[in-house]
Amino acid sequence: MAIFKKKNVAERILPDHIAIIMDGNGRWAKKRSLPRTAGHAAGSKNFKDIARYCNKIGLKYLTVYAFSTENWKRPKEEVDNIMKIFKEYLEDAKNFKDENIQVQFIGDRSVLDEDIQRLMKESEDASCDATGLHLNIAINYGGRDEIVHAVKNIVDSGIDAKDITEKTITDSLYTAGQPDPDFIIRPSGEYRLSNYLIWQSAYAEYWFSDILWPDFKPKDLDRAIEEFNKRNRRFGGV
Ligand code: IPE
Ligand code: IPE
Ligand code: MG
Repeated sequence: MAIFKKKNVAERILPDHIAIIMDGNGRWAKKRSLPRTAGHAAGSKNFKDIARYCNKIGLKYLTVYAFSTENWKRPKEEVDNIMKIFKEYLEDAKNFKDENIQVQFIGDRSVLDEDIQRLMKESEDASCDATGLHLNIAINYGGRDEIVHAVKNIVDSGIDAKDITEKTITDSLYTAGQPDPDFIIRPSGEYRLSNYLIWQSAYAEYWFSDILWPDFKPKDLDRAIEEFNKRNRRFGGV
């Protein structure tokens, strides 16, 4: 049985770039009569496990949604707790270098605490030569905000309007130089993008599930990838 499973895993086609909306931490905690903060801690642990698994199976790009431009609307206590967990993760992120994972943060980091910004840069610098999984962590990320930033940069560059192409915009996003996500996974039973990678996901395949993020395990990712393998991608052709 195990051999067959291995064989199937080896034979399937991996997406180039998986993007995950790590949603459902609060409901996971509520189900257990725990504070929402316990859900975020469990979600953070799960994120590390899933990132490691993606690296192990040979995925090239993974982008995870950790904190959106809209999440500032939450109570200050919850936001502070999420930032605390993020800081703890960053302090621990040196381990990713040993695992050959290249870390990049996407989103507007300029409003984050200075010590968090410093740790973000340190973990990006420390892992920049890694050749395994390229892991994008979206923090204070919003797809619309990203496009506004891109437009500002394009205008500042002095380019002529007639010379602007789709590639000009793609190359001005945080994900410049990366393949578009071809597979977007959202656990937690919600069927929306919540402002995630709205330019890049124009032709992505989607997979939704009721599983809450802390319960989303490698076997669920395997199942999702199996489903991806059944999709017929036509890109407007026949
Ligand atoms: C995702 O889980 C984590 C963040 C958005 C930071 P939620 O906190 O949104 O969990 P639910 O949706 O309330 O269950
Ligand atoms: C999306 O989840 C953002 C992250 C997972 C970081 P939300 O819980 O913020 O999304 P909505 O509010 O349900 O759309
Ligand atoms: Mg949510």
